[in-house]
Amino acid sequence: MTERVYVETQGCQMNTYDAGRMVDVLASEAGFEQVDRPEEADLLLLNTCSVREKAQEKVFSRLGRWRAYKEARPGALIGVGGCVASQEGADLLRRASFVDLVFGPQTLHRLPEMLARRRAGAGPQVDVTFPEIEKFDRLPEPQAEGPTAYVSVMEGCSKYCAYCVVPYTRGDEISRPVADVLAEVGQLAAQGVREVNLLGQNVNAYAGALGDGDSADLGLLIEAVARIDGIDRIRFTTSHPAAFHSGLIEAFREVPELADFVHLPVQSGSDLVLKLMKRGHDAAAYEDLIARIRAARPSAVIATDFIVGFPGETEAELEETLAMIDRVGFDGGAFSFIFSPRPGTPAAELTDDVPQADKRAWLQRLQARLHEQQAAAHRALVGTTQTVLIDGPSRRDPGELSGRTSGNRVVNFPGEPAWIGRFAEVYITEACAHSLRGRVAAVEGEAMDYAAAGAGG
Ligand code: SAM
Ligand code: SF4
Ligand code: F3S
Repeated sequence: MTERVYVETQGCQMNTYDAGRMVDVLASEAGFEQVDRPEEADLLLLNTCSVREKAQEKVFSRLGRWRAYKEARPGALIGVGGCVASQEGADLLRRASFVDLVFGPQTLHRLPEMLARRRAGAGPQVDVTFPEIEKFDRLPEPQAEGPTAYVSVMEGCSKYCAYCVVPYTRGDEISRPVADVLAEVGQLAAQGVREVNLLGQNVNAYAGALGDGDSADLGLLIEAVARIDGIDRIRFTTSHPAAFHSGLIEAFREVPELADFVHLPVQSGSDLVLKLMKRGHDAAAYEDLIARIRAARPSAVIATDFIVGFPGETEAELEETLAMIDRVGFDGGAFSFIFSPRPGTPAAELTDDVPQADKRAWLQRLQARLHEQQAAAHRALVGTTQTVLIDGPSRRDPGELSGRTSGNRVVNFPGEPAWIGRFAEVYITEACAHSLRGRVAAVEGEAMDYAAAGAGG
């Protein structure tokens, strides 16, 4: 009988990518199929995140619930992967002794062997080593799910920002060779993928071997991916301001397939806080970089991340951040978080005397400013026509379709399910807080009656 695996993933896009690869490797090497209900699974995998304390707490509450599923289903096993697994290793078994497999972001390809050993009577299996690029060499062809796909092009991060666990959980930066990435994108394109998002925690530090002893930066990689038949849109996530080189800015000028969107976390607008965070750049350098990106691609939509309440931050520094928000104009929105001390990071050792209530109030002020900017950007799109890649049914109303603009904005509109996976021209009729509404003016491959579709108002 076919065995069943259930995977739940938390955290960033790299974790989402990894979760897909877990299913691929178990399907190809051990005949598993993926199920949507944990209580039906023979193997339950939790792909964890430890970037903030809250994320880490979720892991143990989820595992508590899964223990009951395991007890109710003879032979069922539980595996924990991702960044909490990487950080805790065998210690995780002390808090959750019923866990069978503990694996890291760079050992997920060993799941079939670990599972076989556990089933052969060995004790719980723990492997959270960093065998580096071996993971990508061992993974089977990825199975596309719809017209967009993530492709991890590097692992790890070597920036060591003072607050961040990622370099400890994922190891130092290591890039996949160019040929490897192109082969994976080619396989996805052959399955109908039209848009790829090239992933790395610090993806603009990409330096992939070219085979002739040289290496390619992210700008060159983007140019090469753009030449693959079927790939019409390229994104990359996440970049770091200190390593945003001129080749990447040129790609915005020269590669039309590169989408109008940059997620460029800044964390703070205060030079003092940026220094304490060990970000390696000041506010002026960040703003200069944004100006250069906008000069190369005037339609670029800019999104960012902020941390408020970093140890030692005062209201004056928050004001500097708010002033930067006004100057830059983050039309793509922002993720913003209250600082969470993470064990093992230098910032966790700093004296932090700002009350949590103040931090929450600061976060609200910051978010209000950011929401205003994004709402204004959405309103400005009403009455324009946008090119949207239709990626599936709308989340709110499954009778409608949903897609994203080049600037990464979600648009919902009425349409035919057969259009999923195609590009469409959509006339924007309404701006909502987090999305846009519209009506289709033209769909790739369809002869359409523009007037009937309502284009032009
Ligand atoms: N590599 C990306 C970067 O450099 O910004 C993303 C890193 S992290 C996965 C995503 C976001 O989480 C960061 O941009 C930061 O805003 C936030 N973050 C990371 N560590 C944090 C901490 N200890 N407390 C609060 N927020 C944190
Ligand atoms: Fe963390 Fe900084 Fe690396 Fe981003 S660049 S993953 S914030 S250490
Ligand atoms: Fe979380 Fe690890 Fe990603 S800590 S954000 S899952 S790299």
